[in-house]
Amino acid sequence: MTSQIRFPDDFVWGVATAAYQIEGAVDLGGRGESIWDRFVHTEGNVRNGDTGDVACDHYHRWSEDIELMKTLGVGGYRFSIAWPRVIPDGTGRTNSTGLGFYDKLVDGLLEAGIEPFPTLYHWDLPQALDDEGGWLNRETAYAFARYAELVAERLGDRVKNWWTINEPWCVAEVGYFYGEHAPGHQNRDEATTAAHHVLLAHGLGTRAISSAATDAKVGIVINVDAVDPRSQHPSDLAIAELHHDLRNEWYLDSVLLGEYPAAAVEELRWDQAEVWPGDLEVISTPIDHLGINYYSRRVVQDSTVSDADRPGPLIEAALPRTTMGWEVYPEGLHDVLIRYNEAYDLPPVYITESGAAFPDRIINGVVQDEPRRDYLERHFKAAAEAHAAGVPLHGYFVWSLMDNFEWQHGYSQRFGLVWVDYKTQERTIKDSGRWFADLVAQNLA
Ligand code: FCB
Repeated sequence: MTSQIRFPDDFVWGVATAAYQIEGAVDLGGRGESIWDRFVHTEGNVRNGDTGDVACDHYHRWSEDIELMKTLGVGGYRFSIAWPRVIPDGTGRTNSTGLGFYDKLVDGLLEAGIEPFPTLYHWDLPQALDDEGGWLNRETAYAFARYAELVAERLGDRVKNWWTINEPWCVAEVGYFYGEHAPGHQNRDEATTAAHHVLLAHGLGTRAISSAATDAKVGIVINVDAVDPRSQHPSDLAIAELHHDLRNEWYLDSVLLGEYPAAAVEELRWDQAEVWPGDLEVISTPIDHLGINYYSRRVVQDSTVSDADRPGPLIEAALPRTTMGWEVYPEGLHDVLIRYNEAYDLPPVYITESGAAFPDRIINGVVQDEPRRDYLERHFKAAAEAHAAGVPLHGYFVWSLMDNFEWQHGYSQRFGLVWVDYKTQERTIKDSGRWFADLVAQNLA
């Protein structure tokens, strides 16, 4: 089966993580407070009261973690840089110790032959900026661009591939509408405002990085859902298209075409007061590559239609599901890649995250995680098919290198190719990690 997963020699086989989920050391090296520090220490926000205070202690164990990546044989590492480590209050003084940490990490990766793919914003906004309105305040976008420029000036001689923002949908919708992520607001209009400012930050940041490091390749990471209508009933079809617009194309259209999808704008009754002249040109600044995060599919329906009125067959979300409750649906990865390759003139695409949480157990030092191996195999296969059909896919980063702090779910969800014992910080490569290492080795042989 793995013989069906073949990519060209220059394909980037990678793993991904994010700063707040692995680093720990939240009070060390002059790091400032982030909105996630505040959020996790507010009772009721995170399962079991877990926090990222220690996480995987990667801040101290980064070199051991590079060794793990070498063992897996990966050629790329997508990690994130914590803004509050670099500029503790978001706009003021640069913290050279914090910047120095990433400097060391980048050097270590390059020495190991692993290409760094840093993300500048994976959700840990400096708390001081949230005190001024966070993503509801347009100034945050300008502050992001200054931060991006600073980091690119320092690391741009060695880092060639950059991501501005991770998953703008999550930043805006999960942070400002669902309230499940920091800063935990629940307001529809705020989410739309936040989304616009996050996208503006992406555009300004792209320009800042490109001017600070002229040979940099810059892009954004967008999470996409596969979407299927429950039936071919016209109302179900219309709901599915609207879901695509609100969830995926809001971000893809604005970044790639310079416009927001009209049907979604109308659905939200958005007056666009925060859109200034020229904003969409900034947001659609050409990108060098596009990151797609894919986990699952949604089956949607018009709830006012009864099943008796639907033409068959009805689509049911399939089993199994991961412990996140997400349907395992590899065909969806293929579907979204094909759909968006037809809809846009895509730059090089990377799968910047894909992976699954399952109820792993470690027994005598072994983690037999067959469901994850199967998940990965089927998703890599779907990606290879899309690539063969012409999608310009240049790399694939598994989420995640190792088990880590999964946001509002705390440590209850294990996504790693590597098991982490949170008491001892011992790392153990899972069976899926060994399988992945074999897949990479076979492709590079
Ligand atoms: C994505 C996030 C990532 C991780 C995975 C499971 O939405 O980007 O940090 O939590 O989900």
